[in-house]
Amino acid sequence: MAAQLVRRLVTGLPLNRLYSSEARKVTIIPGDGIGPEISTAVQKIFAAAKVPIEWESVDVTPVRGPDGKFGIPQEAIDSVNRNKVGLKGPLMTPVGKGHRSLNLALRKEFNLYANVRPCRSLEGYETLYDHVDVVTIRENTEGEYSGIEHEIVAGVVQSIKLITEEASRRVAEFAFQYAKDNGRHKVTAVHKANIMRMSDGLFLHCCREAAEKFPEVQFEERYLDTVCLNMVQDPNKYDVLVMPNLYGDILSDMCAGLVGGLGLTPSGNIGLNGALFESVHGTAPDIAGQDKANPTALLLSAVMMLRYMELGTHADTIERACFATIKEPQFRTGDLGGSASCSRYTDEICRKVQSSV
Ligand code: NAI
Repeated sequence: MAAQLVRRLVTGLPLNRLYSSEARKVTIIPGDGIGPEISTAVQKIFAAAKVPIEWESVDVTPVRGPDGKFGIPQEAIDSVNRNKVGLKGPLMTPVGKGHRSLNLALRKEFNLYANVRPCRSLEGYETLYDHVDVVTIRENTEGEYSGIEHEIVAGVVQSIKLITEEASRRVAEFAFQYAKDNGRHKVTAVHKANIMRMSDGLFLHCCREAAEKFPEVQFEERYLDTVCLNMVQDPNKYDVLVMPNLYGDILSDMCAGLVGGLGLTPSGNIGLNGALFESVHGTAPDIAGQDKANPTALLLSAVMMLRYMELGTHADTIERACFATIKEPQFRTGDLGGSASCSRYTDEICRKVQSSV
């Protein structure tokens, strides 16, 4: 019940709407590059699994607002605000075009304060490490990514790392609640409070306070450098890791590398006003439009989304079919050393899903 209440608080939806069997609307942002191909693959698999959701597709290409500034189109904002749950493909970040990363804009717009990335070894797909099963939870709204930078004098610039008690506390409490709801036993706070005594010190303080509220979950504190060292020596030392923004950005990619790369890694951005699930890779312009993309990361993000929406049975069916397909080398896409197209891989997952529903 606690988990349900947390989810209700997070989504803002009344329980009877969250748990009703009628089709619920979900916003889909297909994105750029390979985004439309992998989004279509996910939609096809969801249709095969008869998932009771209705997609509402929106375009987030920036438009010029009345103030002359570029921003996310209002229809896209309205759609996420209405539906509270969205799935997002990768978005291209134009370099030096005068508007900031759309990903950052979406995080800010919907106050997506926690980025959750489970990294689990895939059965049947061999990588350098076996049996990896860690979850990184990254503070998503401030820290080094607060965007406060200025030039003091020519040749000297300053970038502010902003840490607030409010944001640290909510992500720390989220990490413990996540651990509790998902049967995980330990939360590790990752920090450099020995160097950044005030900023990381405050973050750590909030983690300690959250730990007191969840005595059933073990708590430990580790320096970021120690975690990096341990992670490549023995990833099984860790379970759930919670950390400020920049550390999370880097460490979560490192964890993805342990289990086969970005093409396989799902993620969820949990916010006050909704949740947005997305693959962590980019738009892969080198293979866009060639039916070569691996849709697994977006599919597993969609599976995370289904669990968040309490559609666990559908999530399990799709996840099983996906893992079973990856086990068979003839269906693997190029990034996994195979030669199958995105469509062939997708069709095989659909076939497996249909034979199990
Ligand atoms: P990228 O992740 O798009 O590509 C890196 C390499 O991985 C490429 O060789 C690509 O073909 C491959 N790759 C990525 N995803 C794949 C998939 N699903 N299946 C098969 N191969 C895959 O990173 P890159 O090239 O640095 O960025 C390209 C664009 O994507 C940039 O505009 C960047 O800003 C944007 N980007 C967007 C992200 C997001 O929306 N969350 C995240 C990272 C980058």
